[in-house]
This record gives sequence, structure tokens and C-alpha cells, in this order.
Amino acid sequence: MSEKTIKQDTTLAVPQHRSRIRDLTLSDAALSSALHSACFQDEPWHTEAFADLLAMPGTFGFLSYETDLPLGIILCRAVADECEVLTFCVIGSARRGGIGSDLLIAGLHRATGLGVRDVFLEVAVDNMAAIRLYQRMGFAQTAVRPNYYRRDNPLRRVDAVVMSKPLDDQFGTKS
Ligand SMILES: CC(C)(COP(=O)(O)OP(=O)(O)OC[C@H]1O[C@@H](n2cnc3c(N)ncnc32)[C@H](O)[C@@H]1OP(=O)(O)O)[C@@H](O)C(=O)NCCC(=O)NCCS
Repeated sequence: MSEKTIKQDTTLAVPQHRSRIRDLTLSDAALSSALHSACFQDEPWHTEAFADLLAMPGTFGFLSYETDLPLGIILCRAVADECEVLTFCVIGSARRGGIGSDLLIAGLHRATGLGVRDVFLEVAVDNMAAIRLYQRMGFAQTAVRPNYYRRDNPLRRVDAVVMSKPLDDQFGTKS
């Protein structure tokens, strides 16, 4: 297993957790689907969906793990100078230990290396854990998509907030 430790940017006041992180590959499609299903019971993504995304040009992602236990993933897609965080999750028992921050920082660094200038994502308006993390990483709300997410009750829909972050000096991209 190819592994590397992502050094955290000390300008971000995130926990001093050091995740073991490696790149997601096509062979991680089933693993990614299992993690995603555990974290998003209302909207699981199947193995085929991850396989299709991972095969697309510009798509990249990271897996956080401890020994052989997968803990979380982030999947992103860069197109020209923009990058979307397609999905991002950490299993319940491993949350609040800095793993989500590590994964997001890894994604931001990779995006920087690809020449991305803006990163954006969608998050449910009631997902305060994720919104707080994104705000802490410098993301700001840019739009709202009404009734965007389904919930377990088919009649219940939740708005999505679009958040974005310019990749500025903090990640070394501003010319
Ligand atoms: C969002 C998620 C990835 C965060 O992962 P994590 O490993 O717990 O994140 P971190 O430990 O790095 O948290 C960093 C900071 O985010 C904020 N945060 C994270 N979880 C929080 C919570 N439940 N409540 C309030 N703030 C929270 C805090 O500021 C936290 O710092 P602190 O622990 O020092 O207070 C995780 O909660 C998750 O997988 N949720 C379900 C899937 C999901 O919602 N994904 C995002 C979809 S857009």
C-alpha cells in the first residue's frame, strides 16, 4: 500500500491529528461505496458510480485509514481552474479526530498542484458538522439550491448550500 503522511497546514487551526492517507484508485470503488453507504444512509452511491467517477479525467481522491481499517474518503473533480468536492465522509466512530480536516487539506493541496483557483461543494443546510468544518477551512456560502437533498421521508427535502474557497496564499496558488 502506498502511503504518505499529509503534513497539516499550521495556519489552519485544525486538530494535530496525522492521518495515514493514500490516493484513491479505481480498485477502491467498492471500498469507497461501502464507506459512503455507512455515512450517507439516505443516498448511498454504488460501486459502479465510484468506478465511473474514478475513471474520469480530473477526478482524484484520498482514503484515510488506520492499519487496514478504512476511516474516510474524499473524492474531487478538477475541471480547468475549478474543483468540486464530489463526496467527503468519515465513519462515525472516527469523527472529531481531525481525519476530515486531513482529507480536505489533502484535496486542497492536490487541487493546488493541478492549477485550481476555486474549490466548491454542496452541503445540506442542516449539516452543521460539515458546514463548520468548511467555514473553518475558509469556505464561504455562495448560493442555495432549494429542496436539493432527499431525506428518509420522501416528502422531506432539504436545501443545499453551495460553498466555495479561493485557493489563495494559504495553499500557495495566488500569482
Ligand atoms: C463532516 C465530516 C467529514 C467531518 O469529519 P471529522 O473527521 O469529524 O472532522 P474533523 O475532526 O476534522 O473536524 C474539524 C472541525 O470541524 C467542526 N466539526 C466537525 N464535526 C462537528 C460536529 N459534529 N459539530 C460541530 N462542529 C464539528 C469542528 O470545528 C471541528 O474541530 P474541533 O473538533 O476541533 O471542534 C464528518 O462529520 C462526516 O463524515 N459526516 C457525515 C458525512 C458528511 O456530512 N459529509 C459532508 C458532506 S458535504
